[in-house]
Amino acid sequence: AAGDPTAGEKVFRKCQSCHAIGPEAKSKTGPALTGVVGRPAGKFEGYAYSPAMTKEAEAGLVWTPEKIDAFLANPKKFLPGTKMTFAGLRKDQERADLIAYLAKFP
Ligand code: HEM
Repeated sequence: AAGDPTAGEKVFRKCQSCHAIGPEAKSKTGPALTGVVGRPAGKFEGYAYSPAMTKEAEAGLVWTPEKIDAFLANPKKFLPGTKMTFAGLRKDQERADLIAYLAKFP
């Protein structure tokens, strides 16, 4: 089913220990996610990404909804060497809802 941003806001609780989102958001353990949907990877200003993320960014990775979906399903499989220590979201609907929520913050 299409992503539901209201349901996605609840799923985002799993991300909030490391990520903030919104106009005033600052990076924490992870980069701020404001505007991340459609943005080239590794580009939040002032954030020190891992060498693995930097390499993918230089290779042209862009965070389309499809790429975010694949990353969140299994971060270490999608991007070996990432410093995002998050097990991943196994449920397809949770990822779709979450991406719909992220897209509310351009
Ligand atoms: C990176 C999303 C959970 C720590 C990223 C990026 C995205 C993302 C899209 C890439 C950002 C960019 O290229 O600017 C999410 C979402 C989460 C989540 C939606 C919840 C489902 C977490 C958690 C942690 C974390 C729980 C900490 C335990 C990081 C770190 C990076 C990162 C450290 C930088 C990775 C690197 O440079 O290799 N996250 N994340 N994330 N995230 Fe998360």
